[in-house]
Amino acid sequence: MHAATLAPAATSQSVQAASARQPGGYEAPGRPGALAPQMEDEHDAATCGCVYLVGAGPGDPELLTLKAARLIESAEAVVYDHLVSQAVLRLIPATARRVYAGKEAGNHALPQHEINRLLVELAGEGLRVVRLKGGDPFIFGRGGEEMQAVQAAGLHCEIVPGITAAAGAGATTGIPLTHREHAQTLDFATGHLKDDTVDLDWEALARPNQTVVIYMGLGALDIICRELAAHGLPACTPAAVIHGATTAEQRSVYSTLGKLPAAVLEAGLRPPALIVIGDVVAIGRNALQSACTLAGQGIAAMQ
Ligand SMILES: C[S@@+](CC[C@H](N)C(=O)[O-])C[C@H]1O[C@@H](n2cnc3c(N)ncnc32)[C@H](O)[C@@H]1O
Repeated sequence: MHAATLAPAATSQSVQAASARQPGGYEAPGRPGALAPQMEDEHDAATCGCVYLVGAGPGDPELLTLKAARLIESAEAVVYDHLVSQAVLRLIPATARRVYAGKEAGNHALPQHEINRLLVELAGEGLRVVRLKGGDPFIFGRGGEEMQAVQAAGLHCEIVPGITAAAGAGATTGIPLTHREHAQTLDFATGHLKDDTVDLDWEALARPNQTVVIYMGLGALDIICRELAAHGLPACTPAAVIHGATTAEQRSVYSTLGKLPAAVLEAGLRPPALIVIGDVVAIGRNALQSACTLAGQGIAAMQ
């Protein structure tokens, strides 16, 4: 299936600690949708370093916002995570300093406090620093901590949103994350294991008429499905795991809450992957089946 390109966001949240001046690139007041002049016009990187926390989207480079692309192309230093795609990394100028920060589960090239320190150090040198993060920096990306560290050092920090993995996966699978008839609530949760357990509000997540999207949950898939069922979500609820959404490696497994762990094990899906649970998953599956029928292929060939 092909990625449906979402419209690039033209706005960003800008936050500032030491100075009342806001550098360029954010939406100009009174001009909705219009980008303010290029940051070179307003931001003197030689005297004032700045950290841009930039969302790189879920993988497909075409899902990068215009603003993210522009900031990457003019960066003087880039600190990036493992989920940022090669195609996006190719936009970094050859002259820019590059630092790989890692952050695969269980394999952090740099611990978080080192990343925070590095951002402050680079911006303190007066560099225009792009901190490039997969998806959106404020969704399970520890962007909040990095922003706070930069601000605490009296430096400027600007957030550039990215398309989060759930939005990318919804688009490429045809699973509408909300739907007037099926899901009036959308929950994003992290399934990251802490002390071999997942600490979530299971009662809230097991409510009907909602879609639950779980990031970083593959290692805890058994626990997640078991807890949701124990808190009242029917075992027949449609559920899916989507690996590598919006990339050439995308693979999906469709099942039900009760059977999902076994189906994913059999398919051998690996991170990065999202778990999507709710009636809307059936809509995506039906869309896939129709596409397979039209193409005269089996469903497995299209997943
Ligand atoms: C540390 S979180 C970062 C989330 C990111 N900030 C976002 O907004 O998408 C990493 C997790 O995001 C999910 N993820 C990121 N990119 C993905 C992709 N292309 N396909 C499926 N899941 C993805 C996976 O659950 C992965 O373990």
